[in-house]
Amino acid sequence: MAATDNLHTPRNAAPSIDELRVAITGGTSGLGLALVRACTRGRAHVAFVARDAARVERISAETGAHGIVGDIARKDDIHRIALQVIGLLGGVDLLVNNASSLGPVTLRPLADTECEDLENALATNLLGPFRLTKALLGSLAASARERRGAVVLNVSSDAAINPYPGWGAYGASKAALHHLSRIWDEELGSQGVRFLSIDPGDMDTPLHALAVPDADPTTLRRPADSAAALLAAIERALAEIHRAGEMRTLEEIAVCR
Ligand SMILES: NC(=O)c1ccc[n+]([C@@H]2O[C@H](COP(=O)([O-])OP(=O)(O)OC[C@H]3O[C@@H](n4cnc5c(N)ncnc54)[C@H](OP(=O)(O)O)[C@@H]3O)[C@@H](O)[C@H]2O)c1
Repeated sequence: MAATDNLHTPRNAAPSIDELRVAITGGTSGLGLALVRACTRGRAHVAFVARDAARVERISAETGAHGIVGDIARKDDIHRIALQVIGLLGGVDLLVNNASSLGPVTLRPLADTECEDLENALATNLLGPFRLTKALLGSLAASARERRGAVVLNVSSDAAINPYPGWGAYGASKAALHHLSRIWDEELGSQGVRFLSIDPGDMDTPLHALAVPDADPTTLRRPADSAAALLAAIERALAEIHRAGEMRTLEEIAVCR
């Protein structure tokens, strides 16, 4: 089946994730890997991005998803990544900006944070998602026009809201991403491209182990559970987009009469 021939749903039903063309950054570990696995269990067409080529190849072989080797923090990688996503999937309906950097590890106060470490956190957690979203915006807008979905999920954190000491570079970059998502949503929501910013909760992943080495893993969420909760939120957004589209159609019919 071609990636673009995926609307199995009757016209009057909202699209489901199983029918979408999905791009996920950071698909080889933790939450991103759980999302790739969950999406490929259905009929979704999935492409994911990460830097480590061997791990990309392994996850691609395991899941059947398209693996793209790239660094979202590198400006020069973004257009190639976006072109590969569009080429491999034939477009994109759902973009998950999940890949993230903690900034300097071990975590440290802002006064001890190098400017370059803050720059690196911003490059991965803010500029990368911004650039990739912009590069894929034409495809997302086309998806919205075709009533296929068009959702961008920016993976957030409670550190985007709470000023945790030691989490300055990460927290500031996630706060900026959270606000960026809200502004994107105000600007493009009326055109059918929705932006979500969701904290997946504290999860048992390599990133968490790096940040909080003493944490008891049994107190942390499983990435698969967080992935399921995020996908449920996306399904709700798809239903809202669909209802808004139906309303617009009814209003247009009423005006024509
Ligand atoms: N874990 C938690 O408790 C927690 C809590 C709140 C929010 N979050 C958020 O949840 C998301 C996922 O976190 P996680 O814990 O699952 O992380 P993780 O296990 O460390 O996985 C990160 C993934 O992103 C990739 N990646 C990192 N930097 C990249 C870059 N510059 N370009 C492309 N890919 C890159 C990694 O692969 P490569 O290294 O090969 O590139 C890996 O696949 C992040 O946005 C994080 O901020 C996590």
